[in-house]
Amino acid sequence: MSLVQKKTTRKKTTQPETGVLVAPSLLSADFARLKDEVQAVEKAGADWLHLDVMDGHFVPNLTFGPILVESLQEHTQLPLDCHLMVSRPEDWIEPFARAGADVITVHAEATFHLDRLIHRIREAGCRAGVSINPGTNLGAVEEVLDQVDLVLIMSVNPGFGGQKFIPSTLDKVKRLASIRGDRSFLIEIDGGISSANAATARAAGVDVLVAGSAIFGAADRAKAIRDIRSKANGNTRSRR
Ligand code: DX5
Ligand code: ZN
Repeated sequence: MSLVQKKTTRKKTTQPETGVLVAPSLLSADFARLKDEVQAVEKAGADWLHLDVMDGHFVPNLTFGPILVESLQEHTQLPLDCHLMVSRPEDWIEPFARAGADVITVHAEATFHLDRLIHRIREAGCRAGVSINPGTNLGAVEEVLDQVDLVLIMSVNPGFGGQKFIPSTLDKVKRLASIRGDRSFLIEIDGGISSANAATARAAGVDVLVAGSAIFGAADRAKAIRDIRSKANGNTRSRR
């Protein structure tokens, strides 16, 4: 049973029949106008909103905590995809769940008890994601693939928006897609994603494309989302 009552009913976080999901990362938004920025990308066609939580310890940057998620959730129907780049994710599952997170993703490098943590995310009423940095082997998540709803492959070293995509991470996506079998987890990629690499990422097996600077930095966000989606969907068909 869920430990947490959600305040609102959100859109489903599953993959639509029609293909890839696009998740703008709020990290590249104008922080002085966050509500407007969120509503702008929702109107522009985003599927999820990606929220980068950084603690200044696991990554060399600080962003925001559950209070911001709670404030924003009233103003959008987008599923809230919370990416916890924090050293003690154990401390933050319930606070983010209570704040309105739909997906909570933790880093395999940040916990000794990944299996337990995934179960806690589920018990808190959220979808459970697990992420690995570019330098971390896929083996770090292999034993929990039956338990998760999402695997987030970092395609930059986490901490900052606007970094250069690391092409070798696509090989990791391909290997993950090849061992997925009939499990239902989604593969998400995060870091340096734009319309220039959306097709190769999708072809490798990605279901959810996170993009910060390529969307929030664009004058026309709707066009930026459309371009990423059409490049991605142009190359391969959805597997679900
Ligand atoms: C990096 C974050 C990403 C980042 C993506 O640590 O997890 O979500 O904001 O931004 P871009 O798309 O600009 O690389
Ligand atoms: Zn992220």
